[in-house]
Amino acid sequence: MTDQGKQTADVASEQDRVMIFDTTLRDGEQSPGATMTHDEKVEIAEMLDEMGVDIIEAGFPIASEGDFKAVSAISAQAKNAVICGLARASFGDIDRCWEAVKHAARPRIHTFIGTSPLHRGIPNLTKDEMAQRIHETVTHARNLCDNVQWSPMDATRTEDDYLCRVVEIAIKAGATTINIPDTVGYTAPRESAALIRMLIENVPGADDIIFATHCHNDLGMATANSLAAVDAGARQIECTINGLGERAGNTALEEVVMAMKVRNDIMPYQTRIDTTRIMNISHRVATVSGFPVQYNKAIVGKNAFAHESGIHQDGMLKNAETFEIMRPEDIGLSETNIVMGKHSGRAALRSKLSDLGYDLADNQLKDVFVRFKALADRKKEVFDDDLLALMRDSTSDA
Ligand code: KIV
Ligand code: ZN
Repeated sequence: MTDQGKQTADVASEQDRVMIFDTTLRDGEQSPGATMTHDEKVEIAEMLDEMGVDIIEAGFPIASEGDFKAVSAISAQAKNAVICGLARASFGDIDRCWEAVKHAARPRIHTFIGTSPLHRGIPNLTKDEMAQRIHETVTHARNLCDNVQWSPMDATRTEDDYLCRVVEIAIKAGATTINIPDTVGYTAPRESAALIRMLIENVPGADDIIFATHCHNDLGMATANSLAAVDAGARQIECTINGLGERAGNTALEEVVMAMKVRNDIMPYQTRIDTTRIMNISHRVATVSGFPVQYNKAIVGKNAFAHESGIHQDGMLKNAETFEIMRPEDIGLSETNIVMGKHSGRAALRSKLSDLGYDLADNQLKDVFVRFKALADRKKEVFDDDLLALMRDSTSDA
């Protein structure tokens, strides 16, 4: 093993510390159509490193020459994060992965194999043959690098006794992180927690490693499943920016991080993420992947901090906590967006016009409000320029 390989495994020291493993550049990029260029990947990796992501899965080095080069470049530039590459359960994949990540100050090899009955059928291995393959490949990875993650793909549809058996083999062979993927987004929160608890209670050596949770969002439960796994003892969440990922995507980084921050009373876990950088990276990932963020997406959607209805706007103007459970500044937005539309009320109009330099007496406001409502009925959203035009017309009419 080289000196670089002899990095100590990344173990969260405090009980309540949850490590964030971002796989935007690997699982995220696997979304059909989300391919990013080399430079874009390097840029996103730098942003992830700066925002405090603990582990960046930079790509799948054997998949293409481009992926190999991107993982190598990201490894060479990373300042704090562990840089991880993905490898199937073959010596060739693992060697190629190591060639790419060995440039990192803190490299990790992530190797996996599908362990559920359906997935075992693909390489056509018996349970014993697969167990042997896991032993050999994890041992090989560990001989190259001290930081090895192993994943039983489709873990949530693998028989409990076989899952315990192969997890134990991987730990004995030197895996330092065991990731439990819900590859097809099939599990539910109670099950996700029970599975992690079952593994911690039954697998010898489980106390010496970190359990990770890796959820897909096919039933819209990825965030809930990830947090349930953490409640049960997982200490690494695998996720992507904007929930980018195959099919319905992966667990969204911004959702799990903000959930643990806003509801720290019931989820008393800490991450190293600088949440004020969330909006910026969300925009950048949307742009480079070509996957726009849906308007009502939790945390980063255009409407997540927008209010149009009169009652909400009035409440917000008096006390932001009335209709917002987190501050826009916490995710890097400068302010709440008071959207002017047909549901808006007088209080919001008065406040908006005041921001635009018009402080109106009650009778003036009454007149402008009538014109504003007529305009709002014709337009979906009334922008500042529309209001300025309205004020110009009102002044020339007077
Ligand atoms: O979803 C999955 O099972 C994966 C593995 C490769 C970890 O992405
Ligand atoms: Zn995945």
